Amino acid sequence: MYAAEAPPSRPALTVPELRRMKQDGRPIVALTAYDAGFAAVLDAAGVDLVLVGDSLGMVVQGEASTLPVTVDQIVYHSAAVARGLRSALLVADMPFGADATPERALDAGLRLLKEGRAAMVKIEGAGVKLETIRFLVEREIPVCAHLGLTPQSVHRLGGYKVQGRELAAAERLKAEAQAVEAAGASALVLECVPSSLAAAITREVGIPTIGIGAGADCDGQVLVLHDLLGLGVRRPRFVKDFLQDGGSIAGAVRAYAEAVRSRAFPAAEHGYA
Ligand code: KIV
Repeated sequence: MYAAEAPPSRPALTVPELRRMKQDGRPIVALTAYDAGFAAVLDAAGVDLVLVGDSLGMVVQGEASTLPVTVDQIVYHSAAVARGLRSALLVADMPFGADATPERALDAGLRLLKEGRAAMVKIEGAGVKLETIRFLVEREIPVCAHLGLTPQSVHRLGGYKVQGRELAAAERLKAEAQAVEAAGASALVLECVPSSLAAAITREVGIPTIGIGAGADCDGQVLVLHDLLGLGVRRPRFVKDFLQDGGSIAGAVRAYAEAVRSRAFPAAEHGYA
């Protein structure tokens, strides 16, 4: 097996640096990974933040949703990804149910940092999760919040649908974004919300927003690695197959990173009105 080409050295990205990137207007380039080999390719290509998402359940395990993913599985994949990273910030997803109470979330969060070597955990939702976010942050577990289309809510939402289109829903999302920031979240993933709403939230909060299907005005962008490589059966509107532009996996990741940094991606056609 060939190791990824050694990248030019760059300082390891830290959680506080994410906020500075927002302040400086430097777009955050994020991607998911689930193993050391791909993690090394992402790191070498200059990706800033690598997420061990519970999309693991769908793109690696072949499940119909993210719900079956367990803490053990995220810990295992996060530890593998950590071995492939040198500079990128590692974020691990809190699986469905693992954050049902603050105490359970603390147990899971400690495992994700200690065994999974993550620097931050991602938690879907606001509401009762606000107490959990605060509980973890006060115990030195940085949290990335996740609002909009939260895939762990698939049954309540009735499918994977764009969120925040109606005025009341948009106002609720804005209030939730303020609330997760007040609870201590260090970053906020916004998934499948109208581009104009994501832009407004990005202006209104001090923490960086990282969009997926949320338009070009977020502070950063994230994609599921398999989508970027065109591996999905159906390509969602917000995805671009970068393998066509890049010619190789490393080239595709570099093309994505460059497109996010130059704000060429996402284009208007990748967003929602
Ligand atoms: O699980 C995941 O990969 C995610 C991203 C889509 C943000 O949550």
